[in-house]
Amino acid sequence: MKRIPEEKIEAVRSATDIVGLIGEYVQLTKRGRNWFGLCPFHDENSPSFSVSADKQMFHCFGCGAGGNAITFVMDVENVPFTEAVAKLGVRAGVEVEVPDTEGSARERMPESHRRLIDAHTFAAEYYQHLLLNTVEGEEALEYLRGRGFTDGAIEKFGVGYSLGNSDSLARLLSRKGFSEEEMEEAGLVIRPEHGGSPFDRFRNRIMFPLHDANGRTVAFSGRVIEKAENEPKYLNSPETPIFNKGEILYNYHNARLAARKSGNVILFEGFMDVISADLAGIQSGVAIMGTALSDKHLSLLGRITRSVVICTDGDNAGWEAARRFSRLFKTGRTEATVAVIPDGMDPDDYIRKHGGEQFREQVIGQPHTLLSFAMMYARRGKNLNNENDILQYIHEVLEELAGNTTPVERDLYLNQLSRETGVSAEALTAQFRKAEAKNVRAEKPTPHKQERPPEKPAGKTRNTPVSRAERILLSHILRDGAVFAGIRDSEEGNPFFHDEYTAIYVNLAGFYEEFGEPDVHRFAESLQDPELRRIVMETAMSELSDEHVGEEVQDCIRHIRKYRIEMEIREKMQQSREAEKLHDHLRALELSKQIIELKKSLSAV
Ligand code: GTP
Ligand code: MN
Repeated sequence: MKRIPEEKIEAVRSATDIVGLIGEYVQLTKRGRNWFGLCPFHDENSPSFSVSADKQMFHCFGCGAGGNAITFVMDVENVPFTEAVAKLGVRAGVEVEVPDTEGSARERMPESHRRLIDAHTFAAEYYQHLLLNTVEGEEALEYLRGRGFTDGAIEKFGVGYSLGNSDSLARLLSRKGFSEEEMEEAGLVIRPEHGGSPFDRFRNRIMFPLHDANGRTVAFSGRVIEKAENEPKYLNSPETPIFNKGEILYNYHNARLAARKSGNVILFEGFMDVISADLAGIQSGVAIMGTALSDKHLSLLGRITRSVVICTDGDNAGWEAARRFSRLFKTGRTEATVAVIPDGMDPDDYIRKHGGEQFREQVIGQPHTLLSFAMMYARRGKNLNNENDILQYIHEVLEELAGNTTPVERDLYLNQLSRETGVSAEALTAQFRKAEAKNVRAEKPTPHKQERPPEKPAGKTRNTPVSRAERILLSHILRDGAVFAGIRDSEEGNPFFHDEYTAIYVNLAGFYEEFGEPDVHRFAESLQDPELRRIVMETAMSELSDEHVGEEVQDCIRHIRKYRIEMEIREKMQQSREAEKLHDHLRALELSKQIIELKKSLSAV
């Protein structure tokens, strides 16, 4: 793998002043030796974000974000290390050659793609000019104003207008040096099959640019002003080398920054809803472009948030869509909830009728858990005074709950079900056990069915004794290569329990192998996942005494090892209870033997 030479990185580092850099994003005030401001990574009213010129580091006491100039750019711009260094290089006037393997997205792109993007960028500017400054654009502009579009929204979303009956874009592009083939490949121009002159694909439509994850215009969706028969309301660009509907989320590039503050992303069905929500003060909305939600979409979402609020239309189609979406989120580490819009309205209708504040507070602010939504979905269209409907309802809900709930959730939802149907909680519980037994049998091939993790791996630092032990241990191995080597070469290897610490440990092993000695900054920069970076920087900043290092390290390792065994015992006890329930006494016996062994090893730790 090619990389930026270390001297270059150092040159960029020393040419960059972190106070000046961060000052470009955050208003900073000097107090004592440090600078303070509002944290760009979470929503806050009183400044808990500080920047130290001496240490060339930033830190937020509120959310734990922290790092140096390079990781700041990585976090705030959401770019990989090389791109952050390149950006800082440009800013500081240090020439940095970005290796092609992982250089800036634009550099990495083939020349032909770049040309297509340039054509789109130009077209977007042209369309916007037509909307804002010409007589032809007046009707469209009026329509948009009628729907509540402000100047700010038109600008932010790059809205424009395409002339009717026209080849004006084709002519302009050709004057700009684009060939007919290029315009056609871009999807902006259509060339008649049997010759004749090329004409614009989008005519007499309100134009909405679609952007890729880096905010580059790669396609358009055009809306008719007045809906006529036999004409689609929206016309999208065709799939092109730079545009794939299944890989694009409308407004993703804006939402990812907003999501850092709001903590969630709102997933809409239509991009008009994204814009309405933005006008209502919700900036972290995205929408699919009239396709199914793909794996790629899910991974894009997972990259910028751990919490997605699904908000589809309140009509039947919307309920079905919400159901489909929610199923895709059931497994996976992104948590989803569903915001339900009443009375068959879509988000846009709701906001118009009830205002932005009510939308933020009553709809987006009070989403349903996936289970609770599944219950509402099952209840739809049923008459709970009718016996058949009641039985069907109970059946559907129990299927949903089986094999996928914690005891507390189970209790909560079974009680709710009991209240709704008038069937006793005991009877429901008995029925539930049966449904669950069936479920367990169906999943038999995976005996180590993953229990829900005991704690949420969300942004906040956990504060349990085992997490403290992990943190102290991590801070020792971050700053002392010998301590790390001792652990690496020990019989047990990775001493950590939680996934994120394990991930850091694995990365750190690679780092020591390559660089030989500790360097917290360089290491943090090498991590792609901002959450891992946050943990590393936070850990590195904690005070640590240099005395009794060996003892402290051993203490931590013992503590984590104990905890791991305890968790294993807990899991096996749970499995053994399940086996008993299924009358699989052999397996239960086997498990209880294992539990005894584990308990023995526990006292030996
Ligand atoms: P407005 O009617 O302008 O308020 O739009 P909307 O957001 O209410 O659109 P709707 O709920 O009808 O559709 C949701 C999404 O489906 C849109 O954002 C489009 O992506 C897609 N869609 C709707 N109609 C069409 C169409 O005629 N053609 C295509 N290609 N996509 C459409
Ligand atoms: Mn609408």
